[in-house]
Amino acid sequence: MMTTHPAVTWRQASVADSLAAARVNVQSWRESFPERHQDSDDLSIEGRAAMFRHRFGASFYRMFVAEAQGQGAIGFVDVGRPRDARWHCDAELYAIYVLKRYQGLGVGQRLFELACEAVLAQGLATMYLIALQDNPYRVFYERLGGRPIAQVPAGAVAGQDAHVIYAWFDLRRRRATPP
Ligand SMILES: CC(C)(COP(=O)(O)OP(=O)(O)OC[C@H]1O[C@@H](n2cnc3c(N)ncnc32)[C@H](O)[C@@H]1OP(=O)(O)O)[C@@H](O)C(=O)NCCC(=O)NCCS
Repeated sequence: MMTTHPAVTWRQASVADSLAAARVNVQSWRESFPERHQDSDDLSIEGRAAMFRHRFGASFYRMFVAEAQGQGAIGFVDVGRPRDARWHCDAELYAIYVLKRYQGLGVGQRLFELACEAVLAQGLATMYLIALQDNPYRVFYERLGGRPIAQVPAGAVAGQDAHVIYAWFDLRRRRATPP
């Protein structure tokens, strides 16, 4: 049974939260994957913030942030139109990141729920996401009912590592079956 961190609150984000989300994104990546790509241009906070600001201009795009008292944003999720039609889904979960010291407390699960509710509120019901194949956190998606539907080998997209595509083909029934 998951208890959510008592001092954490959630809200829908606006374009003004782009920089805070970018900071969480980069810090969580560095803390969670200290052995990976730490010099990549992808990890520029300003670059990430610009990407989020751009996404807010899309017809359907939602971001939610988790905030801890006195600390500001400690997690975020964003979801929007699919970037890849091959997976036959209405929506794509682009990213979900929680700072290391707040991981394992139910924050990610709550963010995921908010993203799913936002997709359903649009009258959409299917969603996919792209996860790095060797990401140990993939179990998170499996716990939340994601089905691995495809493997994308390293290099299939220039410069990218191997990926797994997870899909939810009916978000109304998204809960993982209890073990
Ligand atoms: C993945 C991430 C968003 C999950 O958020 P979180 O707040 O740590 O997860 P929660 O506490 O809400 O966990 C939800 C469920 O997933 C499980 N889970 C989460 N991370 C897990 C892990 N690394 N290994 C195994 N199970 C995990 C939890 O045990 C829980 O299951 P339970 O209800 O049966 O106990 C967060 O850990 C994170 O930011 N990781 C680093 C960045 C990352 O990998 N993002 C995804 C990019 S593809």
